[in-house]
Amino acid sequence: VTAPDVVAVSADDPYEVLIGHGLHERIPHLVGAGVRRVAVLHPPTMVEAAARVVHALSEAGIEPVRIDVPDGEAAKTAQVAARCWSVLGSAGFTRSDAVVGLGGGSTTDLAGFVAATWLRGVRLVTVPTSLLAMVDAAVGGKTGINTPEGKNLVGSFYEPAGVICDLDTLVDLPVAELRSGLAEVVKCGFIADPEILTLVETDPAAALDPSGPVLAELVRRAVQVKATVVSADLRESTSVGTEIGREALNYGHTLGHAIEQHEHYRWRHGEAISTGMVFVAELAGRSGLIDADLVERHRSVLSELQLPTTYRADAYEDLRSLMAVDKKTRGATLRFVVLHGLGRPGILAGPEPELLAAAYAAIC
Ligand SMILES: NC(=O)c1ccc[n+]([C@@H]2O[C@H](COP(=O)([O-])OP(=O)(O)OC[C@H]3O[C@@H](n4cnc5c(N)ncnc54)[C@H](O)[C@@H]3O)[C@@H](O)[C@H]2O)c1
Repeated sequence: VTAPDVVAVSADDPYEVLIGHGLHERIPHLVGAGVRRVAVLHPPTMVEAAARVVHALSEAGIEPVRIDVPDGEAAKTAQVAARCWSVLGSAGFTRSDAVVGLGGGSTTDLAGFVAATWLRGVRLVTVPTSLLAMVDAAVGGKTGINTPEGKNLVGSFYEPAGVICDLDTLVDLPVAELRSGLAEVVKCGFIADPEILTLVETDPAAALDPSGPVLAELVRRAVQVKATVVSADLRESTSVGTEIGREALNYGHTLGHAIEQHEHYRWRHGEAISTGMVFVAELAGRSGLIDADLVERHRSVLSELQLPTTYRADAYEDLRSLMAVDKKTRGATLRFVVLHGLGRPGILAGPEPELLAAAYAAIC
């Protein structure tokens, strides 16, 4: 076991993201001194990993309380959160106890929300086990659950005390989930760290090898991009001039969210934003912001990873309506994160309908 990479996030209470192999044994140390009980929230796919974490906590003299939560989005409900509160209440959790979220982004979002709300906030350690959760969901302090009206409508900003990305867990992650997470990694390449693109282009198969060094470097670089962006804009408020702050992370997401809804969430998040990124690249290319080579680079790098880059021609009107009600839209104006060059994100607000339609036609 080599020393983990460490990415620092400067939040209100700064914390570290550890990236490496064999890191689960560090969880007792990260939950901190003085903690007597730790609730370990995990989905059914993480039963064995949860058992190891529980064992490590017991060995460290901490009382573990395992909370089995449903898989995927089914975990992010008020009912499941209420069940977790009830378990914490029965076990006598106090302010000096802690919550660990072990699983994909849906588990870490739920665990964060439970930690943020129990006694108005107890210590939280997130242990993301999917690539998407490592590079996106577990870093940045957003926690939340869904309501019948929509995704992530209830939640809070709540920073973890630490994040552990144990790359060993990625070996069991289905390859489709790995590809989906890589779309967010590639996004970080376009908005901030082009070396990510070079790494993927040089050896796409290595990018998909969960035990190899290339994926480890991609995770570190993507976490660094997210950490840098959120550290500069903790509450998603900056949007001045070219400094667009956290909004940059929404690259490809405006059309991506619309596709997810249009597909009733049968497409994975990364698959939808993959097509969304090609769309905004076309939009930027047609607006004269980036050249044709950079537009084409989106298609080629995402295709190398077998991520989708096209969508149905007949869905345009539906997608336009869905984009118009996206929660990131301000008033009636459609806003897109676009590139003003490689690694230079900016905003394109209110593009002409003809431009939008032409960019869409280019991805059909
Ligand atoms: N808080 C944020 O800033 C933020 C950012 C992006 C996404 N999210 C949220 O994250 C969620 C999506 O995350 P996700 O893609 O990780 O989804 P997920 O949590 O549903 O995990 C996807 C699937 O992979 C399984 N899985 C996870 N790790 C595994 C492993 N190591 N081995 C085998 N199976 C494993 C899960 O059990 C699940 O079936 C959404 O709810 C989204 O809203 C939050």
